[in-house]
Amino acid sequence: MEVVITSSPDEIAQLAADAVQRLIESTDRPVLGLATGSSPLSTYRELIERHRDGRLTFARTSAFLLDEYVGLPPGHPAAYRTFIEHEFAEHVDLPDDALYGPDGCSDDLAHESVAYEQQIASAGGIDLQLLGVGSDGHIGFNEPASSLGSRTRLKTLTDATRADNARFFGDDVDAVPRHVLTQGVGTILEAGHLLLLAAGESKAGPIALAIEGPVTAMVPASALQLHPHATVIIDEPAAQALGHADYYREAFANKPPWQHI
Ligand code: F6R
Repeated sequence: MEVVITSSPDEIAQLAADAVQRLIESTDRPVLGLATGSSPLSTYRELIERHRDGRLTFARTSAFLLDEYVGLPPGHPAAYRTFIEHEFAEHVDLPDDALYGPDGCSDDLAHESVAYEQQIASAGGIDLQLLGVGSDGHIGFNEPASSLGSRTRLKTLTDATRADNARFFGDDVDAVPRHVLTQGVGTILEAGHLLLLAAGESKAGPIALAIEGPVTAMVPASALQLHPHATVIIDEPAAQALGHADYYREAFANKPPWQHI
């Protein structure tokens, strides 16, 4: 795992956008995995800016959502598809039919989960998966105790995650759905490159556990330790509980120029 400690959230966005751009420029039909929430927002803004400047096209790209709430009608402002449309897809030239997400309103959620896995496989798998981390160590909506081999399926959110996400529901925790469909940890681990982004002091605990703690289903983000190409890009406040921060800084500063993130 590579740990990159940056001096600002803006630098996180620059480095993450560089990785996305390199993928798009080097691949015929790139496939992105998109996280929602606050962590990737500045990266999406940077990608939009590069597109507007004519530096980046998403015309050959397809994109898969990490997760979706169950029961929010299409177009609901807090639905993850709506979020990605507003914060990213509408502002770039990603083809309309190239944005995929699990249908949280399906009347057969088990079937929908299997079908979503098949859609990812039909696209050739996800090349680069953007991730954030929850305060309880979740990735996607794989809450603690999620199987590290899990596939896309229905999960129940913890009260802590529902409280964290109430800000997207007018601070009304009761409006946050209890259930979600999420790519499994095993699904996420099959992406070619995992890029976990985190900024701010509130991420310091889960980041330290994910990087330096044991691999455990109780901290689903620790599964990144099993992946051959996982990059964690964080700012100083999110790095403050790491025991080996000096080593990560030194390794990144002395990286051979040909070796990208
Ligand atoms: C979002 C997702 C979640 C978030 C995590 C962190 O699609 O799957 O795992 O990445 O809850 O959320 P933020 O970035 O809002 O702190």
